[in-house]
This record gives sequence, C-alpha cells and structure tokens, in this order.
Amino acid sequence: MPESLKGVVLAGGTGSRLFPLTKVTNKHLLPVGRYPMIYHPLLRLKEAGVTQIAVVTSPEHMGDVVNLLGSGDELGLDLTYRVQDKPGGIAQALGLCENFAGGNLFVVVLGDNILENNLTDEVNAFLKQGRGARILLKEVDDPERYGVPRFEEGRIIEIIEKPASPPSTFAVTGIYFYDTQVFDFIRELSPSRRGEYEVSDLNSAYVRRSLLSHGILQGWWGDAGTLEGWHEANNLARDLVYMHLNPLGAQAE
Ligand code: G1P
Repeated sequence: MPESLKGVVLAGGTGSRLFPLTKVTNKHLLPVGRYPMIYHPLLRLKEAGVTQIAVVTSPEHMGDVVNLLGSGDELGLDLTYRVQDKPGGIAQALGLCENFAGGNLFVVVLGDNILENNLTDEVNAFLKQGRGARILLKEVDDPERYGVPRFEEGRIIEIIEKPASPPSTFAVTGIYFYDTQVFDFIRELSPSRRGEYEVSDLNSAYVRRSLLSHGILQGWWGDAGTLEGWHEANNLARDLVYMHLNPLGAQAE
C-alpha cells in the first residue's frame, strides 16, 4: 500500500458568480477567515500528509496564484502548476493532471471548499480501498446548488449536477478520490448543456462500474463559490487557525 496520495487543487473558472469581487483577482485568492481561500484546501491536504500537489488555474490568474504560493516551500508543500486555457469544467481541469498523477492514486479538492476537519481518515480509507473512486457527501438544506446522489437501497446509482428536483438531501462535496482510470473516463465525457465537462458525469462513470464508494464528511463544510456561500464560509472559518501557521502565513514557533 502506498503511504500517501498525490493531491490536486482546482482553482480555475472565471469567478463570475462573485463578480465584481473577482474583477482583478482570482476567486481563490479572496479572503476566507484569516487566509486566502486557496490556503484552506492546501492546508487540509498537508495535514493529511499530501504534500505533492498540482494547482490548476487559468492563464489570467496564474501569475497571482504563483505570487501567493510560490514553490509551496513556505507552506511545507511541493507545488506543480497546470494551466487551464479555457474554462471547461472541473473534469477538464482534472484531465490536465494525468502526467502529474503518474499512475498514482490521488485526491482532488476544489479550491473554494472550506473544511472544519482534517482529511486524514478519508485519505487512509481511500488508500485502503486502493482503486476506483470515493466521494464525500454532506446533508444540506439546498441540494439543488450542488451535485446530488440518487440512492437505491443505500447505494448511489447516479449523481446529478444541480438538479431542479433533487433526488436526496445530500450534496457531493468538492473532495474526490480517484485512481488513474479517471483519465480514460474523462476522455469519454461529453460537455453538458452548460458546455462544461462535469465532475458529476465523471463520478457517474465510476457508479456505472460499481467502483464508487462514499463517506459522510464530518464537521462543517463551505462552498465559497457564490456570494452567499462565500459569506457563510467566512463566518464558519472566522476563527480557524491552522496548526504551525499564524494568520500572516509565517511558520509559528
Ligand atoms: C461544483 C460541482 C458540484 C459540487 C460542488 C461542491 O459545483 O460541480 O457537483 O457539489 O462543486 O463544492 P460549483 O460549486 O462549481 O457550482
């Protein structure tokens, strides 16, 4: 069994739902609590022992993202960057990481997902699983905002992106674990009605092959990708401080 996974943090997109906050900067660099948004997924991965991470962003924002994060050394990370030339969805962004993954299992966290808890148990659960994919669910009041699973006898039989009539009250959070087959599945996807390669279609490809497991995310979870979600995430993360990092990013004693 490998000791850890590689990581991918997706920080692309146009940030249109947060405009004009995102007029001159990338959504993932806006503050959430005491840190720039993207610190949250990166530091949760680090806590779980995932330090080799690819960050995917758009050409417009790559400069700012690299200015903030550099090599990753200050955060104790080994960062690689990939450019998503045009916003084409989460699955397309992930497709850029095939060489980086290099045949290893890996974990993807969306750059606007803010978590209360560390991911160590989930990383270990997927290392034990060893193949296929795993997603984390969270019960929410507004599932229509997210990818939503449909269950039959306790098993997920389909995942629908932002359904008008949600088949359950669970959201698929933006934390996904994959094996290397994911890149073959990405190549088989077609764009959705909104013209994007959807992560929900990708996860459904694993469902059809009975290769998708799921867990329930413990602690609070925020998706800071909308104005409402960003405010909510700021409230939730207001007092969150990561071990070994003071709010200014310097290493603590
Ligand atoms: C994305 C995914 C959605 C998922 C959500 C979690 O949506 O498409 O399936 O539930 O992230 O944060 P977005 O927030 O980009 O609208």
